[in-house]
Amino acid sequence: MAAMVEVRGLKKSFTRPDGTPVHAVKGVSFDITKGEIFSLLGPNGAGKSTTIGMISGLVTPSAGEARIGGFSITQQAMAAKALIGVVPQDIALYPQLSPRQNLDFFGRMYGLGGAALNKQIDEVIEFIDLKDRQNDRVDTFSGGMKRRVNIGVGLLHKPQLVYMDEPTVGVDPQSRRRILDTVFRMRDEYNMTVLYTTHLMEESQELSDRVAIIDHGEIIAMGTQVELMAQAGEEDRLVLSVAGQLPAGLVETLARVPGVSRAIAEPTEDGAEESRISVYAKSGRKSLPDVLRAANDAGATISSVAVKEPDLETLFLNLTGRALRD
Ligand SMILES: Nc1ncnc2c1ncn2[C@@H]1O[C@H](COP(=O)(O)OP(=O)(O)O)[C@@H](O)[C@H]1O
Ligand SMILES: [Mg+2]
Repeated sequence: MAAMVEVRGLKKSFTRPDGTPVHAVKGVSFDITKGEIFSLLGPNGAGKSTTIGMISGLVTPSAGEARIGGFSITQQAMAAKALIGVVPQDIALYPQLSPRQNLDFFGRMYGLGGAALNKQIDEVIEFIDLKDRQNDRVDTFSGGMKRRVNIGVGLLHKPQLVYMDEPTVGVDPQSRRRILDTVFRMRDEYNMTVLYTTHLMEESQELSDRVAIIDHGEIIAMGTQVELMAQAGEEDRLVLSVAGQLPAGLVETLARVPGVSRAIAEPTEDGAEESRISVYAKSGRKSLPDVLRAANDAGATISSVAVKEPDLETLFLNLTGRALRD
């Protein structure tokens, strides 16, 4: 299968105003195959937007290179950029204009015009399902509707490759659903290749053919869902929420419960009302009563319990000792 995106050893360091360096991306490499939905999953500040910036030609890499459809993003920028549609994390629209007027403006900026642009705007408006609101001002729209217009702008020039940077942040569940469906339709109806970034494990899990998990500027795991699940292990994870701070010795006590392989305390801030601890066991449900009894005996007040099958969150926690959501 042909690679649509080839990224090799990309790095980006910024310098803060006080002169201290920020190593935002520390040498990432990955390929995205034509026609696949690939997600970059990582917490805030992991380096997702900086990576997108570099592979769309907006941010100059400190080192490494990226090829888009075989074209170098730095040496053959025009040819490479022509293949890419970008849906940026921050909404970039004119609020006083309607979706139609926004699309017209951005279309002209891309060098489109005339009947061809008009036809393309019709198609995009249909695709983002905003036909009945196409002439209303964008500043009267909900967050989810603005997001959809933002997506429309990214699709105007019929790119083969679309980058979507956290497109569901700040939208209601119904709009989120629509946006996720849109991603599938880009792949299935238009044969587009999609790079999707998110800090939400569920989105990544639902959407992606392949996932790269990124943390502190490095890819710490990458593969298909099946490959990553195999890495996550077969054990269930019992997530206990404990009122206040964790009693001393609780982690060790829980790790000794029969059937439990290990326990990891998730770091919480000082003075937090709740602490979390993850307990791994072959059968979560079987071990649960013993775990709760042991926690109780150790002086912990459990406020809630969840039994989770292995997922990307488990893998992230295994690899970093931290929860993905923080
Ligand atoms: N222009 C910039 N100047 C200085 N630091 C930056 C700049 N852009 C991003 N960073 C820093 O780089 C890191 C990665 O940021 P970013 O790529 O936006 O992460 P993400 O999109 O995963 O949340 C963060 O620590 C962020 O503060
Ligand atoms: Mg970002």
